[in-house]
Amino acid sequence: MGFRSLEWLDHGALRLLDQRLLPAQKTYVDYTDYHTVAAAIREMVVRGAPAIGDTAAYGMALVARASQVETVEALRAELAQADTVLRASRPTAVNLFWALDRIQRVINDPANATVAEIKAAILSEAHAIALDDANVCKQIGLNGLALVPDEATIIHHCNTGSLATQDYGTALGIIRTAHEHGKHVHVLVDETRPRLQGARLTAWELREQGIPHQVIVDGASGHFMRRLGVDLCVVGADRIAANGDTANKIGTYNLAVVAHAHGVPFYVAAPLSTIDLKTPHGDEIEIEERTPREITHVEGVQITPDDVQVGNPAFDVTPAQYITAIITEKGIVYPPYEINLRRLFDLAEAPSA
Ligand code: MRU
Repeated sequence: MGFRSLEWLDHGALRLLDQRLLPAQKTYVDYTDYHTVAAAIREMVVRGAPAIGDTAAYGMALVARASQVETVEALRAELAQADTVLRASRPTAVNLFWALDRIQRVINDPANATVAEIKAAILSEAHAIALDDANVCKQIGLNGLALVPDEATIIHHCNTGSLATQDYGTALGIIRTAHEHGKHVHVLVDETRPRLQGARLTAWELREQGIPHQVIVDGASGHFMRRLGVDLCVVGADRIAANGDTANKIGTYNLAVVAHAHGVPFYVAAPLSTIDLKTPHGDEIEIEERTPREITHVEGVQITPDDVQVGNPAFDVTPAQYITAIITEKGIVYPPYEINLRRLFDLAEAPSA
């Protein structure tokens, strides 16, 4: 790909591609402090569950690098403050918390006993998180390959590609892998109101990759399934509860219900870092409510009457009953998810023979 959603610069800065400006402008912004990194996550300069996690980890590396303190206790106190601010940036994608938990483990690891050791360990853990993201996405793409028939028409919602991760992406990674393996695919790209991640970002990525696609409005999926035939839907996830209920971009639930009504397989593609076994079901997932302005204005122009009441949840929860399978880097999981997701983690954690 001719871009990186995020990149660590050795002189101690985090470079983010400003996704709010795509596809019109490819602008990179360099960050050197965690407050602006947290704001970049909140304002969606960077977005997509895995990319948010990677960014937060590097946000902690910025704190470590800039710190002037001389004791481990003082460094830990500075890092704790940054951790709190970064955790508050967006509530739904569990990858944010997962990545920050990984950094916390390194901070508290007795093996890192000096200021210099903690600083070095945080940066190397942030690099490891980003590298894992890239490798895991590649494997998700390969694992999903068998589910994509040749000549498939596929509906995709939001953006789950290189912009949302490192390199391949999750749901879009499966589509890209199928394309690279010579399968002819045609993607119906949900525009994804209100932030238009589909129309702006997914269409841009698919174009860069030469994958045939068409942007459709979110409400058109039923029409396409009924009139033209759709072979599968594949979407990403921000958090998957222990029972398989899946939080993803608003509109995913509608798509899943329509797919169910038409007998179209509905797949969720996500890394294990998006599966939250501590959350038993989807009703317990916090749904981010965003500013009304995202609905009332398009490109700065007000499209609604003055003072209209707006509801703007950024995500919804698709009940597990509508999900045909969950595609992870460790394999494809089918219902019953309560049992099979847990089994997947047990297998992933088991020492290899
Ligand atoms: O609000 P966004 O753009 O961060 O929402 C992104 C999504 O809903 C994606 O589908 C999800 O994070 C998976 S990205 C691999």
